[in-house]
Parts: sequence; structure tokens; C-alpha cells
Amino acid sequence: MNIAIIGSGYVGLVTGVCLASLGHQVICVDNVKEKILKLKKGIVPIFEPGLESLMREMMKKKRLTFGFSIKEAARKSTAIFIAVGTPSKKSGEADLTYVENVAREIAASMDSYKLIVEKSTVPADTGNRIKRTIMLNLSKSDKTKKGKIDFDVASNPEFLREGSAIEDFMNPDRLVFGVESKKAEMLLREIYKPIKTPIVVTNINSAEMIKHASNSFLATKISFANALAQVCDRVGADILKVAEGMGFDKRIGRSFLNAGIGYGGSCFPKDVDAFIRLSEKSGYHFNLLKEVRNVNEQQKAAFLQLIEDKLWIVKNKMIGVLGIAFKPDTDDIRNAPALDIIRALQHEGAKVRAFDPQAMDQAKKVLKGVGFCANAYSVAKGCDALLLLTEWEEFKNLDYQKIRQSMRQPLIFDGRNMLHEKELSDSGFEYYGIGRGRVL
Ligand SMILES: NC(=O)c1ccc[n+]([C@@H]2O[C@H](COP(=O)([O-])OP(=O)(O)OC[C@H]3O[C@@H](n4cnc5c(N)ncnc54)[C@H](O)[C@@H]3O)[C@@H](O)[C@H]2O)c1
Repeated sequence: MNIAIIGSGYVGLVTGVCLASLGHQVICVDNVKEKILKLKKGIVPIFEPGLESLMREMMKKKRLTFGFSIKEAARKSTAIFIAVGTPSKKSGEADLTYVENVAREIAASMDSYKLIVEKSTVPADTGNRIKRTIMLNLSKSDKTKKGKIDFDVASNPEFLREGSAIEDFMNPDRLVFGVESKKAEMLLREIYKPIKTPIVVTNINSAEMIKHASNSFLATKISFANALAQVCDRVGADILKVAEGMGFDKRIGRSFLNAGIGYGGSCFPKDVDAFIRLSEKSGYHFNLLKEVRNVNEQQKAAFLQLIEDKLWIVKNKMIGVLGIAFKPDTDDIRNAPALDIIRALQHEGAKVRAFDPQAMDQAKKVLKGVGFCANAYSVAKGCDALLLLTEWEEFKNLDYQKIRQSMRQPLIFDGRNMLHEKELSDSGFEYYGIGRGRVL
């Protein structure tokens, strides 16, 4: 099938590359010129394992192209996926400006049947808004078209995780199709035919809601684990063992019960906010989710308080940071907890040095006054405290003996509960994790 993807970021590009690998003819569009120029040269502007090689393979097979023009892409495609950003407004509500812009452009270029698919995460009722926008702009752009061009809007939310995006796209736990016609459903079934997984077919509002509900539930699980960690530290329990013991219960499961410095990234904070606002506007106050958000913010504050407590004086201390990305295996730093923690320490007068295996270029754009180092060992040299803020696998296997010897004070704060407490303590470190039973 001829498919257009509008928005070639983390989701759009992965969707385009993967749909091409399923055998479709795909064109990916973006309005950032430099991005498209790089992509045309076979360069992926983001870090996502396996993406560049698969993309080049698809380009070589002539199944994947790139362009700037929505009009051109839409004209030659049957299905058009909208994968633009849906950031937060100040109120927390989803800002759907990019979605509306794209819908208007698609409408203005439509000359035959199109299936317009929402891939972006959007609040319930967005499908209806897109449909209305297309109707309004169809009739405005060309009066002769009015009422003659058939189209469908569908919701097909994406559940991929950055860092394992290709694997997640190709082997999803489920596919969700929010549709209003048999034709739209059949086209989506055709697009995803090679993927063997349960398919949930529903109306558009329910499909949109599934995505917000899923992300909000996962955020709730994380905040639950973080709240437990706070209690663990007060009663001398270990969150790792508590989560292990809970996780064996099939009704609960072990995943997303990791305590730490809180969730971040471009999805959970924004989607929880948007879902709270959507509920509020509909007349329901989702106080449970407000508390999920509060717990998440408190985790960062509690971590900073712990550092202050153990360092005593923060001013002029040299603090080393390992990891800036919001999670490992990505260069994405959007809403990364590390950014807030670094800025708060700088605000208290600390000097900060940092290293991240992939996110340094992004971090340099937004963090001022940080000494960026070439590796973890350079970060640690002469530091009064070392913070682990992203659980990159490579940080597990560092020579911590060597690190301890190069530090001014052997304090280590493991914001992700990734390191081996005993090994570090045996090496002479004072180790502080999250919810490991410190007894406050
Ligand atoms: N990143 C994730 O892990 C993830 C997972 C699932 C769902 N989502 C959702 O997918 C959507 C996209 O997220 P993302 O992380 O890919 O964002 P992103 O910022 O990486 O990509 C969005 C792209 O859209 C482009 N764009 C904006 N307006 C445009 C226009 N008028 N024409 C053409 N291109 C335009 C931007 O330049 C950008 O490249 C969001 O709604 C997000 O919530 C993200």
C-alpha cells in the first residue's frame, strides 16, 4: 500500500521504516528541512538501536523515501499517518496545533479516498475534530470537491518504547484500531497483515482513550512503587525485595514497580497531564492521577534532600552525574528527571560534571554551566559525590574501585537502584539507593 507518514520523529520515523519493512511503499514527511535532508542521506537524526541500518535497507529497496510536502505525499498515498508532536499547554491540556495544521493540509490536497490515521497520542474526541477540520477545509479549498471525496479517520495509537522501538513496533502486545467503517478496519488490517498479535477493534474515542489510560496506569504503577520506597526507608524494608515479592503475583507483575527518581520522557508526564485535563473538562476530577503526578515530583525532591543531607554543604561541592537521558538506550532528554536534579543542585551552588553515552549533544543544548566529560571516569575525578541518574547498562560494569580512588569523597547516590550496594560498600563507598531501608 502507498502510505504517507506526517512527522518523522521518534514515532513517525520508526513507523515509516517498519511499515516499509512490512512491504509497503512509504514516504515520510517532516517540516524541519535539516531533518529530511539528513534522512535523505541515510542519516538518522536520533539515537534508536537498529533504526539506521533498517532505514538504509528500506531506502536501498526503494520502499522508503522522504519529503517536505504533505500535499505531494498525501496525493500519492491511500493511508496517511499523523505522527506529529502533541505537547502540553501550560494548563496540562494536549496542544493539538500540529495535528490541526496537518489535517488542514491533508484536506487541501485530497483528490481521492484517503484513510487518515492518528498515530500521535491524542485525547478522546480528537478524531471527530480531525474529521470536522477536513470537512471544513475540503469545502473551502475546492468547492467542486465538496461532498464528493470520501475519507475515513481512524485511531491507531502507538505503544513503542524508545530504546526498543523497532522490536516493539514489529512485535506489539496488541494493535488497537479505532474505526468508524468496515473499509477503514480492512485497510488497517491489510497494513498490519504480517504482524501476528491480538487486534482490538473499537470506536475512535475508545482507541484514543486506551492510549491515555495505558500510559496513566503505567505511571500509576511507578508512583505506587515510589511511594512504597518512601515507606521502606522509614520502616527498614528494601523496595527491591518488596517489588520482587509483589511481582510474582500474576495479578500484579514485576514490571514498572521500579522505584527511582520518578518517570520522565516525552510521554508519561504529558499524557498524565492531558488525561487529567480531559477528565476535568468532562466533569470528572481524576484525583488519583493528580496524586500520581505529586508522588513523581516528590521523588526528585526527596532525592535532592538526601544528597543535601549526606553532603551537608552543597555549595561549591563538585557533583558527578552519570546519565542524563530519561531512560537508557535513547538520546531523548525531554522531561528527563536528571535535568531538574542538575539544575536544582546548580541552584544550591554545586558544580556539576556529567556524562551520558548518547544524550550529550542534546544535553549541551539545554544545560548551562555543566562540565561535560568524555566518560564516567573523568566525571568522577575529584568529585564529592557521584549520582547515577540513568540506568545505562555500561554504568553497571565500571571499575568502581578506580572511581572511588579518584573521588574526593566516596559518596554514591543510585537514583535507579541499579548498582550493587554490597560491592560498592565493600569498595569503601557510602551507598544510597531509593527505598533500600535506610530508616529515616
Ligand atoms: N516517543 C515515544 O516514545 C512515543 C511513543 C508512543 C506515542 N508517542 C506519541 O507520538 C507523537 C509523536 O511523538 P515523537 O516522540 O515522535 O515526537 P517528535 O517530536 O520526535 O516527532 C514529531 C515530528 O513531527 C514533526 N512535525 C510537526 N509539525 C509538522 C508538520 N506540520 N508537518 C510535518 N511534520 C511536522 C516535527 O518536526 C517532528 O519531527 C506524540 O503524540 C507522542 O505522544 C510517542
